[in-house]
Amino acid sequence: MRFASCTGEIEISGIRKCFEGAGPDAINLGLGQPDFDTPNHIKEAAIESIYEGFTGYTPNCGIPELRTALAEKFQLENNITCTPDEIMVTSGASEGLFLAISATVDKGDEVLIGDPGFLSYNALTKLAGGKAMGVPLNDHLTLSAETLNDNITDKTKAIVLNSPANPTGAVQTRDEIKAIVELADENDLTIISDEVYEHFIYEGEHVSPGQFSDNVITINGVSKTYAMTGWRVGYLVAKGCALEQLLKIHQYVQACACSISQKAAYRAITGPQECVAQMKDEFKKRRDILVTRLREMDLDLNVPQGAFYLFPRVGNGDEIASSLAKAGVIVVPGSAFGLNGKDHIRISYAASQQKLEEALRRMKGIL
Ligand SMILES: Cc1ncc(COP(=O)(O)O)c(C=O)c1O
Repeated sequence: MRFASCTGEIEISGIRKCFEGAGPDAINLGLGQPDFDTPNHIKEAAIESIYEGFTGYTPNCGIPELRTALAEKFQLENNITCTPDEIMVTSGASEGLFLAISATVDKGDEVLIGDPGFLSYNALTKLAGGKAMGVPLNDHLTLSAETLNDNITDKTKAIVLNSPANPTGAVQTRDEIKAIVELADENDLTIISDEVYEHFIYEGEHVSPGQFSDNVITINGVSKTYAMTGWRVGYLVAKGCALEQLLKIHQYVQACACSISQKAAYRAITGPQECVAQMKDEFKKRRDILVTRLREMDLDLNVPQGAFYLFPRVGNGDEIASSLAKAGVIVVPGSAFGLNGKDHIRISYAASQQKLEEALRRMKGIL
């Protein structure tokens, strides 16, 4: 069989490597999903929708009540004013990223991406025929307008922002975001803003770049916020005529997001939000335990303000991850997230405090 050359440009995710050498009793701190179950009131909405026979295709952009609820959410939580017509429900934020990058990037176009950064940005850019340009992060592990500016060429088309970030947990400040939006507008660049961890911020604030400019595609989803990774519902805002461009791709690759999951997502967004606060409190407790204990081990560590990852500098991240796997703790080598991540490992704290305690015990002597 002969394949398109773009498939040769990308590899199976490096996260897979972290499982190598791990035994059956290994504690998995490599996961990028909450370890909580989807709250019952959300599950019930899905069950009801099945019994009501809501099992067919939905409108391409999503069910109207969900798009209306999302427009209200964007106004209230993100200060983004948009109409339901500027919102699309997607199959996870992953599809949103695919649509945003595919609709923006031409062959040879450059996309500025924080290095280290979430794997998909790089791969999706290459699939679109573009060049993923890794931009180094500053000391606080955020992206600055100055460094981005240094990397702009006449081929640059877009900037990807991700705050709070995977894998660093870093949160961009309001001033940083404003400066980046200004830079993007001056250079006619699209900002693709991945905000899937917006509700897990322990210090600082979440600032959506989409409130300052219409040249922003804002991407989010229910996976992380409501522990719904398997339900595959994401959503995005694309202003003006941008949504139509994304829709042209979405209608052929996906048609619509899962009907049942959309009903569940509607209940999630419009229902009680205590479940989110509870998850956030628990994540913060775990982060604090890990930070204290890892610092006692003299680890070089920025305190992440958001998401549910720690990204300590450990020396050779690949070697340490492999030693940890043999000792029964799975983490992801930082190299999986870009060249600049190679001295780090990513530790996810989407695992119970009891598991984290045991993992810390096993880590002693290796870190
Ligand atoms: C930064 C970031 N964006 C997007 C996603 C994908 O989310 P979804 O499950 O909504 O496709 C992930 C998942 O790990 C992520 O970490």
